[in-house]
Amino acid sequence: MAIWIVNASTVDPTTGELLKRHLKITDGKIELSLSGGERPDTAGCEVVDADGKLLSPGFIDMHVHLREPGFEYKETIRSGTESAAKGGFTTIAPMPNTRPVTDKPETVKFVLDKAAKEGVVRVLPYAAISKNELGRELTDFPALKEAGAIGFTDDGVGVQNAQMMKNAMALAHSLDRPVIAHCEDDSLVEGAAVTDGEFAKRHGLKGIPNESEAIHVGRDILLAEATGVHYHVCHVSTEQSVRLIRLGKSVGVNVTSEVCPHHLVLSDEDIPDSMDANWKMNPPLRSPKDVEACIRGLEDGTIDIIVTDHAPHSAEEKSRGLAKAPFGIHGFETAFPLLYTKFVRTGRWSLGFLLRKMTADPARVFGLPYGTLEAGAPADLTLIDLENEREVNPESFLSLGRNTPFTGWKLHGWPVWTMVGGKVVWTEDKGINR
Ligand code: DOR
Ligand code: ZN
Ligand code: ZN
Repeated sequence: MAIWIVNASTVDPTTGELLKRHLKITDGKIELSLSGGERPDTAGCEVVDADGKLLSPGFIDMHVHLREPGFEYKETIRSGTESAAKGGFTTIAPMPNTRPVTDKPETVKFVLDKAAKEGVVRVLPYAAISKNELGRELTDFPALKEAGAIGFTDDGVGVQNAQMMKNAMALAHSLDRPVIAHCEDDSLVEGAAVTDGEFAKRHGLKGIPNESEAIHVGRDILLAEATGVHYHVCHVSTEQSVRLIRLGKSVGVNVTSEVCPHHLVLSDEDIPDSMDANWKMNPPLRSPKDVEACIRGLEDGTIDIIVTDHAPHSAEEKSRGLAKAPFGIHGFETAFPLLYTKFVRTGRWSLGFLLRKMTADPARVFGLPYGTLEAGAPADLTLIDLENEREVNPESFLSLGRNTPFTGWKLHGWPVWTMVGGKVVWTEDKGINR
């Protein structure tokens, strides 16, 4: 049966204004998209009244960790996609640092099969650049592409060897696939847990310097120029990286980049002196100056998209303290409310800008047919209540990972329901719908 979503508010892409819209959905696709005007004739159709709430294309998150296979105690494809749906995401791209590492076609297929059986949103897996992500030997790129990998990355670690990265880029380019890079030079990091800044100084800790990230960004932009590959920089966190990407783009290198909500709203000066490991992620929270550079980079297009780097860990792992706990925080269920509250409600960004960075722009960067409300597109949608204020409560997360620094934050902009391919997969009232 066709579905009408009536009385939705959508952002007009040209004027940025909120516009009343009615959408007709048939066979999982948007068939009609009517702006303004009276409620259409909905006879014979299922009707969903959006009640004036914001309707957005479903969010697209091109950097997430689902932990399966191998770390099911942290997250599974089932729990991770459920958490994504609750956060308004309809397409997510999991990283290959699983156990085994997603470095063989069988593992890519395992992830895709599991996602088809147990997932509730679209799952587009990456495959590893090097076997076991050890940086020693390249994986079988053609076979991994054939199995369904959308790109190549050793996320979790940096590719230390420049020749290996260059070979990976040349190979990926020949297969028309991007290389996605976690930029980190190990020789500069020395086991530190926080950035080399105020917090580290105050506590007499070793710090992770900005150059450990930016050196790889600079190196890789040169290698991308030499090979012609689409090179995508993960989780930009430093002013220096922004500067290098801006330069790369200005001379025509095919470089794109992403930033995470936490690097836009938190700095190392916000880390509590209790040394709570819910504030530990890689790259680490940087200085307020870096935060402002990342915001400006996103605003001027140097940084293309927003991703969560959703990195769930168990409560026990995160209770080991700042030095010993693993890096990473929960991302899906706080991303939009955080950014909407901190940047749109404060007047710094338009709502349209934020939505673009989580929908149309990731679709453009990765060549995906999602992220739009145009007729003909897959009906991947999320409805959002912009007025309801609620506190972040990790106990309510659908993710197994409750590791967040945002507990108790009062935020606006919570999703109400999420639809994937014309099927409502999650609602605020009833939860997951399989
Ligand atoms: O914070 C992070 N968590 N950064 C990474 O690079 C890896 C990720 C993880 O897998 O937990
Ligand atoms: Zn990473
Ligand atoms: Zn990651």
